[in-house]
Formats: sequence, C-alpha cells, structure tokens
Amino acid sequence: MKKINFSWNNRIGIGVMTGTSCDGIDISAVQFSGNSLSEFNVIISKSYPYPPEIKVFVNKCLTENVPIGDLSQFNYYISLVYGQSINQFIEQYLRLKPDFVAVHGQTIWHQPLSSDFFDKKVASTYQSINISALAKIIGLPVVGDFRAGDIALGGQGAPLVPIFDYYTFRSDKKSRVCVNIGGISNVSVIPKKCNLNEIIAYDCGPGNALIDFFTTEHFNKEYDENGEIARSGLFNKELFYNLIENDIYQQIQPPKSTGKEYYNNKFIHDSINLIPHLVNPKDVLNTLTHYTAYTIANNIKKYTDSSCEIIISGGGIHNQFLIDCLANYLRQYTINSTEQYGINPDYKESIAFAFLGYLFLNEENGNIPSATGANKETILGTLAI
Ligand SMILES: Nc1ncnc2c1ncn2[C@@H]1O[C@H](COP(=O)(O)OP(=O)(O)O)[C@@H](O)[C@H]1O
Ligand SMILES: [Mg+2]
Repeated sequence: MKKINFSWNNRIGIGVMTGTSCDGIDISAVQFSGNSLSEFNVIISKSYPYPPEIKVFVNKCLTENVPIGDLSQFNYYISLVYGQSINQFIEQYLRLKPDFVAVHGQTIWHQPLSSDFFDKKVASTYQSINISALAKIIGLPVVGDFRAGDIALGGQGAPLVPIFDYYTFRSDKKSRVCVNIGGISNVSVIPKKCNLNEIIAYDCGPGNALIDFFTTEHFNKEYDENGEIARSGLFNKELFYNLIENDIYQQIQPPKSTGKEYYNNKFIHDSINLIPHLVNPKDVLNTLTHYTAYTIANNIKKYTDSSCEIIISGGGIHNQFLIDCLANYLRQYTINSTEQYGINPDYKESIAFAFLGYLFLNEENGNIPSATGANKETILGTLAI
C-alpha cells in the first residue's frame, strides 16, 4: 500500500476555516519551511461566500429539532461547497500543487461539558463535513476532525488556535494576548518567555454573534456595517447591567468554550424582556456592541496588565464602533492587528488550520492542555486520502 510520506521541508498546506458566523469560507495557502514551526510563509488567502441558506440552516439547528435526514444531507452538501471553493482557489491562485488540505468543517453543535446520555456522561462537538468525500472531490489528502481527540481526553476540543499563536507571536521581550473576534471571541494570553503549557486561552464570550443576531432581526442585514447602526444609537444602562447579570458563562473559570448555543437571540431577549418599557433597536445594538467590547476587555484584564500587547484578528475588526468601544475599555493598552505581523486578520484562523494540519502530518501534538483542559497533549486530526 502506498503511504504518504510527509517530511518537514517546504510543504504547502491549504487551511480552510468556516466559523460560527457562517459568513463564508476562508482559505489560505501556507508554505512551511521545515526549519522551525515558526517559519512559514502565507502564499495567498481568499474568501468565498457561503450560500445564505447555510446560516439559516445552522441557526435553525441551534433551536429546533432538525430531521436527521437533513443533517446527513447537509454534511455532504457542505463537503460539496468546500470542494468547489477549494478547487476554484487552487486553480485560480496556486502554481504548485498543494500537499494537503486541512479543514475545520462547519460547527453545528458544541457541547464540551458532558451530560447524561443513556448510561454514560458524554461531551460532544459536531463540525459538519465529510473529509473522505472532500478528498475525492479535490483529489488531495484532507486532514480534519481536529477537535474529537481533545474531547476524548476530557478537554473542550477548543480553542485550537493557541498553539499557532504561540509559535507565531511568543516573544522573550513582551507579553502578548491574541484576541480573535469571530462569532464568538477568544483570547490566547502568551506571557513573555512562556512555555507552551503556560498559555492561558479560552473563548471569552460573544464576538459578533449578538450584534449579528440583532442586526438581522431588526435591520434585515447580515451584520452592522462598520458598526454604524450601533453608533447612531444610545447606550442603555439598564440593558447593559441586565446582560452582565444574566451572563453566567462569564462566571465560569477557564478552561471553557462556548458558542451560539448560548449567545443567541434568546440570550439577548432574556435581558431586554426584564425592561418594562420598549427600547429603541438602535439603542439595543449600541448596548450589545458595548457589552461585547466590555466582556472582551474584562477577560483581557483578568490575565494581563497594560504592558501586554493586544493583537486582534477576526471579522469584528471591521466593526469600527466595536473596536472604538474596546479601545475605550482598554485605554492603557496598546492594540495592534495581526497585520503588523504579516498575518491578515481575516485569515488568521484559516492559516492556523493549515498549521494544525501540518502538525498532524508530522505527528506533532496540537492541543494545549492548559487551554482545552484535556488530561494530556495529543496529536489532533484524521486523514482522508
Ligand atoms: N465591514 C464590517 N462591519 C461590521 N462587521 C463586520 C464587517 N465585516 C465583517 N464583520 C463581522 O465579522 C463577522 C465574520 O467574522 P469571522 O471572523 O469570519 O467570524 P467567524 O469565524 O465566526 O466566521 C461577520 O459576521 C460580521 O459580524
Ligand atoms: Mg467567517
């Protein structure tokens, strides 16, 4: 039987990320030098829009009992959508044939804390994609299913990007905290001179999720472009304090991870409904944006002081009002974008998944137990050829 023989030198991997926002597929081609894990070169990154039905379907899965037949079909459908975008990306932008593709899949459900199921306690996370089908569609080896191994070892299966943050942003001179503002926001605190197991990393709460949900519900748009609607509203103190009080996720100690199972329309309306009078939707959006920035800032302050450099990424970076609020809550800190370090902030996670695929193929551990809560380090992923 033919065995794929990967070596460390000059391998090109494609990383593919689709986050909880369901806004599209982010694809990055990355060349790994093989000299050290910190030496890689991003060849090119592109985004491909998702058909709008995907967001509707994924959001429906959070609140309704979706028929198993639909979930099965979605699993193949998403593989076709991935395949088409990856094929287009390779054809249009790459001269050299990539060695592998590493995919995240589309999260449908994330339940990292175990609960009773038949006679056992079971934790689970479900990223929809069929990597065997995808490998045939694109004619390349595909690494996927990165979260399961960590869950099996008692971890949250998340966050997985911190190992990439460590190899990319760790410094002997400066403590840094990487913040990604996707649908959910997460932090990786990387103290100066730290070892891998000294990283503190977890999902800190809402990223764009609450803002997106409310913008869609009241303004019939996918997101609040540049935060302009929120900026035009007024801050509502009562709602802000209701949100703080109701947000039990903020009271949990890390390791922890979350998703739209928690930060969704219900979360918003549970706080709005406590106010006896109507609140102007623009004011709600203003307050939700403030609240999102406030939780991110609070989580950063918990584990750092202002000498720590903040490095942000994710689609939330384009919401200027959110970033202004964040800067306001973190006045003493320096905030930079990953761009300053040659990493396009829209593609940090797709680059990180190429990195995770590279780790897998070199039989290197991918999880950080201090971040996920797993009982040991382990190789993450599965290969389809
Ligand atoms: N111009 C913009 N103005 C405001 N928000 C934006 C803009 N561009 C992107 N976003 C936000 O970023 C989100 C996508 O961010 P992304 O990092 O891709 O998240 P995920 O990883 O969850 O898919 C969008 O849903 C939207 O909320
Ligand atoms: Mg996205």
